[in-house]
Amino acid sequence: MEQRAHWGSRLGFVLAAAGSAIGLGNIWKFPYITGENGGGAFVLVYLLCVFLVGLPVMVAEILIGRTTQSSPVRAFRKLAGEGSNWISMGWLGVASAFVILSYYSIVAGWSLHYTYLSLTGNIVTLDPAEFEPLFGSVFASPTLNLGWHTVFIVLTMAVVLGGVSKGVERWSRILMPLLLTMMLILLVKGATLSGFGEAVDFMFGFRTDKLTAAGALEALGHAFFSLSLGMGAMLTYGSYLRKDDDIMSASIIITVLDTGIAIAASMILFPILFTQSMQAAQGPGLVFISIPMAFAQMPGGGFLAPIFFGLLVFAALTSAISMLEVVTSSFIDGKNWTRKKATLLAGGLIFVVGIPSALSGGTALFGTNIENVIGMNWFDSFDYLATNWMLPLGGLGIAIYTAWRMDEAIRHDHFLAGTKLQTFYKAWLLLLKFLVPVCIVLVFLHAIGLI
Ligand code: PHE
Repeated sequence: MEQRAHWGSRLGFVLAAAGSAIGLGNIWKFPYITGENGGGAFVLVYLLCVFLVGLPVMVAEILIGRTTQSSPVRAFRKLAGEGSNWISMGWLGVASAFVILSYYSIVAGWSLHYTYLSLTGNIVTLDPAEFEPLFGSVFASPTLNLGWHTVFIVLTMAVVLGGVSKGVERWSRILMPLLLTMMLILLVKGATLSGFGEAVDFMFGFRTDKLTAAGALEALGHAFFSLSLGMGAMLTYGSYLRKDDDIMSASIIITVLDTGIAIAASMILFPILFTQSMQAAQGPGLVFISIPMAFAQMPGGGFLAPIFFGLLVFAALTSAISMLEVVTSSFIDGKNWTRKKATLLAGGLIFVVGIPSALSGGTALFGTNIENVIGMNWFDSFDYLATNWMLPLGGLGIAIYTAWRMDEAIRHDHFLAGTKLQTFYKAWLLLLKFLVPVCIVLVFLHAIGLI
């Protein structure tokens, strides 16, 4: 039996897991869904979802990983026994990694393209009216999307090929401090803009009238996405921990960092928008249309634009690494393959699954335009499927298994091992048993239109 790989240090694990959590979800998605939901009250509901639902599930995932020292499929096989239906939860995680990474890579590709454009000075010289058509043309171009999709998947594979401590951990140690520094530079800039006060009011002024039930449920789905829960990414990273590592405090740090970065990203984007008198509710185009437009009009924009898009690329990369690692480690555990073989095959397959998303804006695939069939393009349907169904379902399975099925002695022992925060055990279990499943079921009932 080959020895399981482990993190080189505790900090390495926290940085890698925070790197998984902090991604396009924080910088691209959180600000625009906050904008669409009117700010304030939505932010409060999001915080509740993160700490009362997300955090308990994160602890459960890492705990299952550390206990079994296995990737998702083998973890459930070990815990629930050969032939158990719970093993399908592990497969669901692997499937989610395929679905999410395939379209995530396309957004990361746009970020790479905009980094390239801003580094070559091609962003700040444009007229305000040119930004929408620019994004439209990028979205519609099969060559650009396929090209950058290839570059991004190859970069992700290169890191994962290096292994746990020499690849994932090493690159997280380099990329995360860079990301935090870039964020800080942009935040300082945001705080000096005249729109900063308006942005603070937008984010923290609790206008409850703007909040809808749909908005609250969107907050919950996004909490799962943003914390990388429900697909076994945290489980897999947890499987590289040793028994004396502290799961509870690491989970708190990761959750606080992830939430802090989402709020910081909004405090970068909204002041820029409000200073230029633009609207907050702009949807997915916010980061690729309004923000470059604002950079083009503001002093220092030529310097800030590459920092901002570079930040997006780094954030996307550390998240993508964790998704590829789920599939790679499943191949290694399940088939006894070498890391090289597992990474090349996993990356190659995900690349192929991403092709329809890469072509979403342009060519119809095999002569059918999926949009005419299901009313959404590939890209949107993958995002919808993953965020509204696959991740919550995975989270539900993990919560129910840990709270209701797992052996009490094992669960208790593994929660206590390595942590000083032992008093949290009861509260954690209570949330996992009742509040978490109820909230997730509400998301499903809403998704099928019952509430
Ligand atoms: N958490 C990442 C983000 O916010 C996305 C992600 C989801 C990564 C699921 C891994 C697993 O962008």
